[in-house]
Amino acid sequence: MGAENLSFVLEKPYAVKFEDRPVPNVTEPHDVIVNVKYTGICGSDVHYWTHGAIGSFIVKDPMVLGHESAGVVSKVGDAVTTLKVGDRVAMEPGIPCRRCVRCKEGNYNLCVDMRFAATPPYDGTLAKYYKLPEDFCFKLPESVSLEEGALVEPLAVGVHITRQGDVKPGNSVVVFGAGPVGLLCMAVAKAYGASKIVAVDINEDRLQFARKYAATHEFRSARVSAEENAANLIKECDLGVGADVIIDASGAEPCIQTAIHALRVGGTYVQGGMGKNEITWPIAAMCSKELTVKGSFRYSQGDYELAVKFLETGQVKVKELITGTVKFEEAEKAFEGVKNAQGIKTLIQGPE
Ligand SMILES: NC(=O)c1ccc[n+]([C@@H]2O[C@H](COP(=O)([O-])OP(=O)(O)OC[C@H]3O[C@@H](n4cnc5c(N)ncnc54)[C@H](O)[C@@H]3O)[C@@H](O)[C@H]2O)c1
Ligand SMILES: [Zn+2]
Ligand SMILES: [Zn+2]
Repeated sequence: MGAENLSFVLEKPYAVKFEDRPVPNVTEPHDVIVNVKYTGICGSDVHYWTHGAIGSFIVKDPMVLGHESAGVVSKVGDAVTTLKVGDRVAMEPGIPCRRCVRCKEGNYNLCVDMRFAATPPYDGTLAKYYKLPEDFCFKLPESVSLEEGALVEPLAVGVHITRQGDVKPGNSVVVFGAGPVGLLCMAVAKAYGASKIVAVDINEDRLQFARKYAATHEFRSARVSAEENAANLIKECDLGVGADVIIDASGAEPCIQTAIHALRVGGTYVQGGMGKNEITWPIAAMCSKELTVKGSFRYSQGDYELAVKFLETGQVKVKELITGTVKFEEAEKAFEGVKNAQGIKTLIQGPE
């Protein structure tokens, strides 16, 4: 299309356009300009595309979509020492303030002043060029492709969720939801040494995929009470007194309720999925079983590093999750695909 910085812009629900935006320039000594090569699409991008908002984050001005990207360094600031032009990098797309208490304690995902790609009012990475600070670009090892590099973002989500679950060697881990996030949680749990990994879903194709990919067992959720579903899950998957750790990567109320009933006493629950804002919660079971219940939001200190390391060592594989690639000009197709749960991950190629 001959543009300098072709970008995929959302104007309002279902109204997207390609726009030539100014090429970002180095303005700070630690700035890095990345030529974006591949971008994955996730549920939140699709939600902005279909609804123009997520909760209180409302798209008021046209916004570039996308936040799961990898690319090649095209320019670096004077103070950059760890990267050079031509390096291939995974891009961490949220820049915290670095000054607030949460930032200083290392939990920068909880920063009060986060600037996150494709979360209004900040533009996303579906453009030819994107600017990041040096320490938010993670050099890809020789053995890791740029396509796999685009999967580092959802993998880092999985790393953070699984970290929150404090998964230990020998643990039984149940993951509700076998979409990209759930599958990556299963793979990370395996890398952490979990001995039993149960995938739960209602979609048979996804369960089969999970079993081939990282799960040791699968369970198809049924439309019965949460207690009954949990009892069946424990029995069918031989979970004894209940699971050590349960991760929700579905956001679905019946999953969340079943999970609480399927945990052992003293077990740990992590909420990774984002669905309804409010649900009915089995609080008596949580109390009497002394469960540890945690949230998980994006990724923080060390998560991107570990995600890249898992790819380098082969402890986690993401190639098989990439079920399609489309050209930049066909970006909207990738959004349709995610909306209709086609395949696992579709990548959009950066503009030529
Ligand atoms: N915490 C975070 O920082 C973070 C980051 C990214 C995504 N997410 C959330 O993680 C979740 C998973 O993301 P994804 O991209 O894998 O989504 P996805 O939609 O591809 O996967 C969700 C899976 O849950 C399954 N599911 C839905 N209802 C179910 C039910 N009643 N019983 C059993 N399974 C059911 C679906 O069939 C699907 O396979 C989403 O809610 C997303 O918003 C959270
Ligand atoms: Zn995402
Ligand atoms: Zn901060």
